[in-house]
Amino acid sequence: MTSTWVKNAISEIDADYQRSADTHLIRISLPEFPGIYFYLKDESTHPTGSLKHRLARSLFLYGLCNGWINQDTTIIEASSGSTAVSEAYFARLLGLPFIAVMPKCTAKRKIEQIEFYGGQCHLVEHSSQIYAASEHLAKTLNGHYMDQFTYAERATDWRGNNNIADSIFRQMEREPFTTPKYIVMSAGTGGTSATLGRYIHYQGYDTQLVVVDPEHSVFYDCYQNHDCSLTGEKSSRIEGIGRPRAEPSFIPAVIDSMIKVPDAASIATIHWLHNILGRKVGASTGTNVWGALQLAKQMREKKETGAIVTLLCDSGERYLDTYYNTEWVANNIGSLAPYTQQLQDL
Ligand SMILES: Cc1ncc(COP(=O)(O)O)c(C=O)c1O
Repeated sequence: MTSTWVKNAISEIDADYQRSADTHLIRISLPEFPGIYFYLKDESTHPTGSLKHRLARSLFLYGLCNGWINQDTTIIEASSGSTAVSEAYFARLLGLPFIAVMPKCTAKRKIEQIEFYGGQCHLVEHSSQIYAASEHLAKTLNGHYMDQFTYAERATDWRGNNNIADSIFRQMEREPFTTPKYIVMSAGTGGTSATLGRYIHYQGYDTQLVVVDPEHSVFYDCYQNHDCSLTGEKSSRIEGIGRPRAEPSFIPAVIDSMIKVPDAASIATIHWLHNILGRKVGASTGTNVWGALQLAKQMREKKETGAIVTLLCDSGERYLDTYYNTEWVANNIGSLAPYTQQLQDL
């Protein structure tokens, strides 16, 4: 039997969803690529500022319907920040305590947002430590570890229900090419790419799913070597994406190909995109757009036309003191010049 509190919690989340609007699909025009149309699914406009708003809603509903969350549950999550911001929002909606376990390099703005929603932040040295620290906290506090890295791929209804893939394909219906040739996405949990890939298969579209991966991440090597046991030593410098282990939510079989993107290319791309969009975007959007541009170059060489869709995952306003700070970039990423030049030469 469902408790009254759980019933009310589910209706609270559903009512919040009912009050929300869908995110925009922005078309950008790049005359250097005749006949190739670029689209950015702007996930920064969710109330909590990133694509993780969708995931947080799904994870709370999944936890409630599984009987894992009740009125006394402290919610604990391992995150690189964006998911924690969104989960803090939903925890506050339900009146539950929330603790985010994150690497200490997480953007200050995200920490402030988590605290704004009443959450606490537990910072660890290295991104590989977030899992064990979350499990330990959950055990000690008798709380619930949400574990987005495991459950992202299964908490979202991949067949439709206005998931991100469903929304993209509906918004493409009146475009010159209604079915994108490519959808490009990066992986943090891998949950978004799993939803996109499964949806493409389910609907029988000819779209290819291309996953881009930053430096210091093992997803690319796992995919190429068919070995998901690989691990890495370093933390990703592109917040939100790239992991030192192949997360359980990363589903290689739904991916058509992967591209490794240098971190400096991702950062050069966000500055280039600033001039085109008139807005600042987060670094993972730079990784996505760099990947999309490499595919567009190949299409142009082969004289192909078509549409490429990628995601604007979060806003750059969160990263003013890092990716938008010249000194920080010089010290932590290195020279952007070769990639800035390539973007100028497009
Ligand atoms: C800014 C940003 N971009 C991209 C992603 C990757 O999404 P996913 O976890 O669905 O792979 C994340 C995940 O946290 C993120 O925070």
